[in-house]
Amino acid sequence: MSATVVEIVKASYLKTKPNDETLGFGRTFTDHMLVMDYSVATGWTHPRITPYEPITLDPAAVIFHYGQTAFEGMKAYRTDDNRILLFRPEKNFQRLNASCERLSMPAVDEAEVLEYLKQLLIVEQDWVPSSPGTSLYIRPFIIATEAFLGLAASKEYKLVVILSPVGSYYQNGIQPISIKVEEHYTRAARGGTGAAKTAGNYCATFNAQTKAAQEGYSQVLWLDANEKKYVEEVGSSNVFFKINGEVITPELNGSILPGITRLSVIEMLRSWGIPVVERKVSIEEIFRYDDEGLLEEVFGTGTAAVISPIGELEWQGRKLHINDHQIGEVTQKLYDTLTGIQTGKVTDPYNWTVEV
Ligand code: COI
Repeated sequence: MSATVVEIVKASYLKTKPNDETLGFGRTFTDHMLVMDYSVATGWTHPRITPYEPITLDPAAVIFHYGQTAFEGMKAYRTDDNRILLFRPEKNFQRLNASCERLSMPAVDEAEVLEYLKQLLIVEQDWVPSSPGTSLYIRPFIIATEAFLGLAASKEYKLVVILSPVGSYYQNGIQPISIKVEEHYTRAARGGTGAAKTAGNYCATFNAQTKAAQEGYSQVLWLDANEKKYVEEVGSSNVFFKINGEVITPELNGSILPGITRLSVIEMLRSWGIPVVERKVSIEEIFRYDDEGLLEEVFGTGTAAVISPIGELEWQGRKLHINDHQIGEVTQKLYDTLTGIQTGKVTDPYNWTVEV
């Protein structure tokens, strides 16, 4: 199938758009969405832009029982001269296909879906906000729709892309957040689905996240499932530590999500001559570096979270106060450069942005 113009059914009324100042994360949705269907007999078919509306599924659909699903998170940004930019979108569709592979779901044609997404963004262009720190969050997802309770991969799927104008993921914007190391629960085990962007990885974090929030923390830091020793990731992002001039991030090991912001941060730091190491890093080691006065900055990276400084880390009743709860120099430079490239304010030497 070639990427032609998708069928477009326009919404009969258009919603009132929220003010940029009131935008939080993921509660407001645009007027239209992109939908495609898959069956084993036809492959992916019938791409269409429809009004944003509820999806009706058979109660026996595989998604409801066995959670066969994958999703992505990406953003569209408005430039000062009113162009709309995507950030490394091909990486998101590659990762969607990697998630599909792990979950026994059919791959999509990456270039074709990107083309359809651009058409959706043209229909919804007025929804891309322009204030600093805002963007149009893009949530592509695939669900297993076959009505069958036997334990087997579905033979039918739906791909849907919805759009949501967003501000900062965290309430206090780019202010450093507090994080608690989770010592009881596990997010993902080696050989499991941790590297895939799939619903179960996220709902498995809700209980620890709720408890941490009750104690005043914004997020949970997950350790490896085997030894509860090595740092993996934060609920909504990958994590980086600046220690004595060097930046360390946990190496991808099959249970960590391969973040596109993570990759971009590694590439930016290397291009600035700042050493970056991807390796196993234990939580005990991080606390030891702090005792030695060597822990300089900690930050999370993600599409929704962007670059989020971490000001406090709690583990086994001990608390680290990082950089006096101030955003670090490298963290700030990464935030400014990344968001500058994404919004077209800073030259993009890496060719990461794609114009819609
Ligand atoms: C994203 O950063 O796009 C994510 O998917 C994180 C999210 C689960 C809020």
